[in-house]
Amino acid sequence: MTTTTERRAPAVARTRDELREARKALTGKEIAVVMTMGALHDGHATLVKQARAEADHVIVTIFLNPLQFGPREDLSRYPRTFDSDMEICTEMGADLVFAPTPDVIYQDGDPGVRVSAGPLGDVLEGQSRPGHFDGMLTVVAKLMHLTGGTAFFFGQKDAQQLLLIRRMVRDLDFPGRVISVPTVREDDGLAMSSRNTYLTESDREVALSLSKALKAGAAAAPEGPSAIRRAARAVLVAEPLVLVDYLVLVHPTTLKDVPEWYRGEALLAVAGKVGTTRLIDNMPVLVGPGGGALSVFSNPDDLGPAEAAGGAR
Ligand SMILES: Nc1ncnc2c1ncn2[C@@H]1O[C@H](COP(=O)(O)OP(=O)(O)OP(=O)(O)O)[C@@H](O)[C@H]1O
Ligand SMILES: [Mg+2]
Repeated sequence: MTTTTERRAPAVARTRDELREARKALTGKEIAVVMTMGALHDGHATLVKQARAEADHVIVTIFLNPLQFGPREDLSRYPRTFDSDMEICTEMGADLVFAPTPDVIYQDGDPGVRVSAGPLGDVLEGQSRPGHFDGMLTVVAKLMHLTGGTAFFFGQKDAQQLLLIRRMVRDLDFPGRVISVPTVREDDGLAMSSRNTYLTESDREVALSLSKALKAGAAAAPEGPSAIRRAARAVLVAEPLVLVDYLVLVHPTTLKDVPEWYRGEALLAVAGKVGTTRLIDNMPVLVGPGGGALSVFSNPDDLGPAEAAGGAR
């Protein structure tokens, strides 16, 4: 049955040639790109929806990038749900889905030349996942070139990734703009993530303490950095089944701990293991009088000096 509101499924390109051909049909000026690893959820759908609203065309890439997974990480068990991914892309009005295999992206094998994330790639997520951000930036750079996009949409949920992509675009003079999309959460506060499918029912309950901790921290924002950290930590301490990797309140562009006198925007970020699943979450907060949670940073293009880096925490 066809109704007038029914959307057409996007074209699918699997090879570079198919992408080049399909790309020719996208003749508008603004080409939005949403990059994903598949197993799409409402977070991804929101990115596509926002891209749809702001651009002439929307390309979704679905690529499980081996380069950004460590040897002991979950690449082999990562969920693959192409059919339902296509349904979401159709529903959200994507024009083109680029879903290559690793040999299409890395046609000559693992690349010897890679994008280096620099010192900001060594802290927080980078400390637990060595090489992760170099692998991520390398594929993002390639997909930016291959798609020829003009506007690239990324989720605030992956705050350090978003910062590093903005830094790559600025520091290496990539064309195109980067747009931050607020974190999409389940009704109970859990940040949506493809990896949530790994959680058992009891894990799922335990995992809630991450977003609860952020919320408690943000509620203490008017009182300053140590009050924020204390309030967030108290929630995590009460849930011993979360193996906390880090809980930090850092400057949004240097990722360094903010000092006690600091007032302004900061990133409250947490990572931890629940059962066998490593989860991350964060909340941009305004620290100081009238402060609290923000959905995204107010001036994300202000990235500070190039040498500012998160080495010394
Ligand atoms: N809950 C969310 N809200 C907003 N954006 C999101 C959310 N989850 C993922 N994204 C964004 O979607 C894009 C693709 O992310 P990705 O495919 O890695 O999904 P994911 O849910 O983060 O999966 P995983 O947790 O396994 O990394 C990224 O820009 C990411 O920040
Ligand atoms: Mg992700």
